[in-house]
Amino acid sequence: MAPSAAESEVEAGDSGRLLVLYASQTGNAMDAAERVGREAERGGCPAVEVLSMESFDPSCLPRERFVVFVVSTTGQGDPPDSMKGFWKYLLQKNLSRQWLEGVHYAVFGLGDSGYQKYNFPAKKLDQRIFGLGAERIVEKGLGDDQHPSGYEGALDPWLLSLWKSLNETNPSLLPRLSNITDPNLNILGDPKVQVTYYSSNEVPEDCKILDPKKLIKSARSMSPALKLHDDGEQPHMLQMVTNLRLTKDGSDRDVRHFELEDPSSAISYKIGDALEVLPSQNPSAVDAFIKHCNLDPDCYIMVC
Ligand SMILES: Cc1cc2nc3c(=O)[nH]c(=O)nc-3n(C[C@H](O)[C@H](O)[C@H](O)COP(=O)(O)O)c2cc1C
Repeated sequence: MAPSAAESEVEAGDSGRLLVLYASQTGNAMDAAERVGREAERGGCPAVEVLSMESFDPSCLPRERFVVFVVSTTGQGDPPDSMKGFWKYLLQKNLSRQWLEGVHYAVFGLGDSGYQKYNFPAKKLDQRIFGLGAERIVEKGLGDDQHPSGYEGALDPWLLSLWKSLNETNPSLLPRLSNITDPNLNILGDPKVQVTYYSSNEVPEDCKILDPKKLIKSARSMSPALKLHDDGEQPHMLQMVTNLRLTKDGSDRDVRHFELEDPSSAISYKIGDALEVLPSQNPSAVDAFIKHCNLDPDCYIMVC
């Protein structure tokens, strides 16, 4: 269980704590950082904290003993918005070469080798942290969208080497390596969401109105990207007019060409903007799921 903010103040500098700091623009680095946190907990790490870089005070970095950085790339080799303040702090000239002495760290970057400035923020961060006197636990890992398995193609082996190294050099920080590496062990961590069932006659008032705007708002509130990045842009309903698979049938990679039409022509965009697509379910799959799980189709399920 991650400690509260107050407890982490006290525990900073504790050699039994692993801090995972991430910077993400559209959610991938956050997912990867959460996976790092989950695996560390499974490996018996006594205290793990996963934080977005903007919620960590960089002046406290020297007090940490073990830090994993997970950072993505945006724009043309730029750091995500949530890394900018942290990075500016680290670039200060008055920080000495011993500033991070005693800190052990590892960097995992997320990028796309199709871009010229491939994984620049992760590469620069790794160099700077090292230059400030910290010690690498393992060499940096670089996730690439071009890999057939996406960034996880590099994350899987990198994490394995990170856990092996920590278990060897600091067994009290990661005492149960086999809980992570044994494919036959299926240990579930603590649940991250709470699921509540309501029968159709005890539905809370605000769930009764199936207002599409409300549904969109609630779906958006569950999107990891938007937790990081809400610019208040209004959602639009678009029609998909083309959906073509570009990769060969039978290939593991499913890359598609989509064309979306905006009947209202109300959207304006510029190069580099990211489109967030909210999922909806196939009604026949939903019916099959309800039947399979023996659920009341009129009941409401709240996930929060
Ligand atoms: C608008 C945009 C710009 C990007 N620019 C770069 C880049 O310059 N270099 C790079 O290596 N990857 C680049 N990427 C790839 C992302 O870093 C990669 O998809 C990553 O998984 C995104 O992680 P995030 O969701 O945590 O932000 C870019 C992606 C987008 C959408």
